[in-house]
Amino acid sequence: MSNNVFPKDFLWGGAIAANQAEGAHLEGGKGLTTVDMIPYGENRMATKLGLLENVTLSDSEYYPSHQAIDFYHRYKDDIALLAQMGFKVFRTSIAWSRIFPKGDELEPNQEGIRFYKNLFLECKKYGIEPLVTLCHFDVPMHLVNEYGSWRNRKMISFFERYAKTCFTEFNGLVKYWLTFNEINILLHSPFSGAGILFKKGENKEQIKYQAAHHELVASALVTRIAHEINPQNQVGCMLAGGNFYPYSCKPEDVLTAMQKDRENLFFIDVQSRGYYPSYAQKVFDDKNVVIDITDEDREILKNTVDFISFSYYASRCASADMNDNNTSEANVVKSIKNPHLKASDWGWVIDPVGLRITMNTLYDRYQKPLFLVENGLGAIDTIDEHGEINDDYRINYLREHIKAMKDAISDGVPLMGYTPWGSIDLVAASTGEMSKRYGFIYVDRDNLGNGTLNRMPKKSFYWYKKVIETNGQDLK
Ligand code: BG6
Repeated sequence: MSNNVFPKDFLWGGAIAANQAEGAHLEGGKGLTTVDMIPYGENRMATKLGLLENVTLSDSEYYPSHQAIDFYHRYKDDIALLAQMGFKVFRTSIAWSRIFPKGDELEPNQEGIRFYKNLFLECKKYGIEPLVTLCHFDVPMHLVNEYGSWRNRKMISFFERYAKTCFTEFNGLVKYWLTFNEINILLHSPFSGAGILFKKGENKEQIKYQAAHHELVASALVTRIAHEINPQNQVGCMLAGGNFYPYSCKPEDVLTAMQKDRENLFFIDVQSRGYYPSYAQKVFDDKNVVIDITDEDREILKNTVDFISFSYYASRCASADMNDNNTSEANVVKSIKNPHLKASDWGWVIDPVGLRITMNTLYDRYQKPLFLVENGLGAIDTIDEHGEINDDYRINYLREHIKAMKDAISDGVPLMGYTPWGSIDLVAASTGEMSKRYGFIYVDRDNLGNGTLNRMPKKSFYWYKKVIETNGQDLK
């Protein structure tokens, strides 16, 4: 196989998200968002899953998003470091509540617009292309409290106004857009995924799939608007990816794996094809779900995405008799333990071949270019006696995954770019920890918010710089 498979204009870079990096949670006119209400510690999971009927801030809890890694104040220095590595693309998200602090205002918050304009200009200064997610796990809390978030159809027009504002204000600065980060996660983590809080006794599946429908319509609507505002705009969907393997070749295991994959691909099927897949009705019937879909919705859904973006951390595994006792979670998706694979300290299996399989599956199914917008190893880093971080485990993980990308490209899969997760250490979405680090750049901060917030390149920083310089040829 030729070593030179990455196209000349391949977009090498990295990814972060507003809610896990910016902090400054009430500065610059920003309003509270869902993630600002999710504490670190034992109450985190129940909050994320939407199991509390109300969420309020408590003095006795620590909320990691409130200061995060202070990217809001330090973005110039951070972008300069990313530029040193040779980044060609930088994925981040816009915090909806910086632009519309409550979410239902008619006019945007100019200070929020100014912040992102400056951020994108800073990227451009170094020739870095921004790749921007409109909604990365942060819905303005006012929309949750007043309207029940995405369970309410009104959210479509609030999101439309927000997206239109972004496409207009950042026209010419941003051309790659993603609508909803890991849209399928709303099924698995409804509050953090979509601001859903359940009321006692309601059919959770009904609420989740109706919310999903509203997000799908909103996504298609703003895809159309992005294209109308500037035909150069390219809009992608975003899947929390990773195929399910059948635990064995027993036909029932294979069938379960297929059904589990569909649960996630359901979203991308709609966003990429422009209509609900034929299996959707059976899923709804089985779950006692009746979706309110109008004729106008069906028309709007026809505005499909330009490319398929996805995250890949791990593959998954399913068997016909999987249940709460024989499964564990990686990235909030339940999976049987795969006996053939090793796992990270957080139990996320390490499976580069699974990336090749996932990429081939996605391209076979959609025939649209792919963009791998998250990938990486969450690990504990220690500073050695020379003051250095030798994160060879991270380099090994990334190297093997880049090799798998090469294999998939050689298989015939077009890949636009690669933005490994958390290029700079940030707050973990699942656990709220700082100690679960992904970055090429270390941030001095611990799980409870102590530390100087100083930045320091790790060994992987210099390794990734060389990977980018050689367009993925030198992976040593
Ligand atoms: C994805 C999210 O689910 O995985 C990110 O889009 C998240 O926001 C990433 O941070 C890694 O998960 P975690 O829990 O290790 O931060």
